[in-house]
Amino acid sequence: MDKIRIIGGVPLEGTIRISGAKNAALPLMCAALLTEKPFTLTNVPYLADIVTMTKLLMQHGVEMSMTDAHARQTMGGITLGRTLVLDASNIFNKTAPYEIVRKMRASVLVLGPLLARFGEARVSLPGGCAIGTRPIDLHLKALEQMGADIELDQGYIVAKAPKGLHGAEIYFNMVSVGATENIVMAATLAQGTTVLRNAACEPEIVDLVQCLRGMGANIHGEGTPTLTIHGVPTLGSVFHHVMADRIEAGSFLACVALAGGDVTLTHAPVDAMLPVLEKAREAGVVLHTPNHQTLRITSQGKLEPVDIITQPHPAFPTDMQAQFMAMMLLTSGTSTITETIFENRFMHVPELMRMGANIQLKDRLAIVKGVPKLNGAEVMATDLRASISLAIAALATPEETVIHRIYHLDRGYENLEAKLSACGADIVRMK
Ligand code: EPZ
Repeated sequence: MDKIRIIGGVPLEGTIRISGAKNAALPLMCAALLTEKPFTLTNVPYLADIVTMTKLLMQHGVEMSMTDAHARQTMGGITLGRTLVLDASNIFNKTAPYEIVRKMRASVLVLGPLLARFGEARVSLPGGCAIGTRPIDLHLKALEQMGADIELDQGYIVAKAPKGLHGAEIYFNMVSVGATENIVMAATLAQGTTVLRNAACEPEIVDLVQCLRGMGANIHGEGTPTLTIHGVPTLGSVFHHVMADRIEAGSFLACVALAGGDVTLTHAPVDAMLPVLEKAREAGVVLHTPNHQTLRITSQGKLEPVDIITQPHPAFPTDMQAQFMAMMLLTSGTSTITETIFENRFMHVPELMRMGANIQLKDRLAIVKGVPKLNGAEVMATDLRASISLAIAALATPEETVIHRIYHLDRGYENLEAKLSACGADIVRMK
């Protein structure tokens, strides 16, 4: 299994180009199932999860092609281009198999599109993952309200809507990004109007809605808790640019904040990062945003403690919790981090403590007491964002750190070593 060796203690200097957002690209790729016309995405990131989604869609019958011959990268046996053309005119399989779904929960986002366009879908229940049980009850309840028959058969959701889906008034009793995305996509082809209340407002949902609108969908309210979708008979072709990754950008911000240095992020979604930028400034990081896509980060590595509560957008994102915890390890005081979204998203804590961090856990609260320094260690990645928090900590100590199981990292960070090495980091991948 690949591992990464980091020797830190050196300020980072340079420029990093932010890639397309994993959490926008994955639902966008599923939206291709809604139309038989060519569906083109640009600014697609080179990530293991994109490869997994490509394999999932291809086994449904989606044909993939790339138009930018120069910018290609082969991962997991699939050659990815920045620009993907997806053709879902010949879908011959409506089943999303367990062996793919269990590896990537976002696979359940094919459920809404398949049901809406074909009236049937058979999708494996995803099962739990490292950060929580992550059920999909909200997705299923909403689809039933839209007229779907949902049954569970040997771990698979068997969904049928032979007369098609119809609009409904749906209230989500908790905010769910995936449920909002699945139902928005399903509602685009439903008969009548669907109103979603307590919907998620994440920027990636705004990006998805803009793409769906480009296909001819009739949707209003994206970015607010109330979405109104008027169903249309069919959807057409679209050429959509995937929004930049606010979590990748926030992760690099945390690297520079703790290691120190002066780094400029280009093609960054500054306006989608406001809660993270606010907290970073509170911690003493100096940030300049000369325009909406450029973020210059300057830090001496000495940060002030802050208190963080993760909540749905536009509050502080749970996907940045582990990274900010790493940022707080060397402050002069005590920080508190409350994780309200997932029940088990502190898997990085024991690993950070092996590097000398002082963290106390009380249920969903982490109390981080700053220490004078961190030591290098052999540590293990447990989930995507936990793995980057280990790299952030490793960059702040001159001792050697080796991070094992970095397939977690490869799911959500494109060419991490190259981007950090270009800013002076000593980071190498080892077999
Ligand atoms: C999306 O996951 C993201 N993944 C996650 O990013 C992110 O952490 C999460 O949203 C929250 O922002 C993608 O976009 C591919 P949810 P999702 O449905 O949709 C509970 C990363 O690191 N819930 O908003 O699965 C659920 O258990 C990943 O990039 C139900 O109870 O998250 C969780 O506690 C990790 N029933 C909470 O809601 C449901 O039917 C939020 O989950 C659905 C969700």
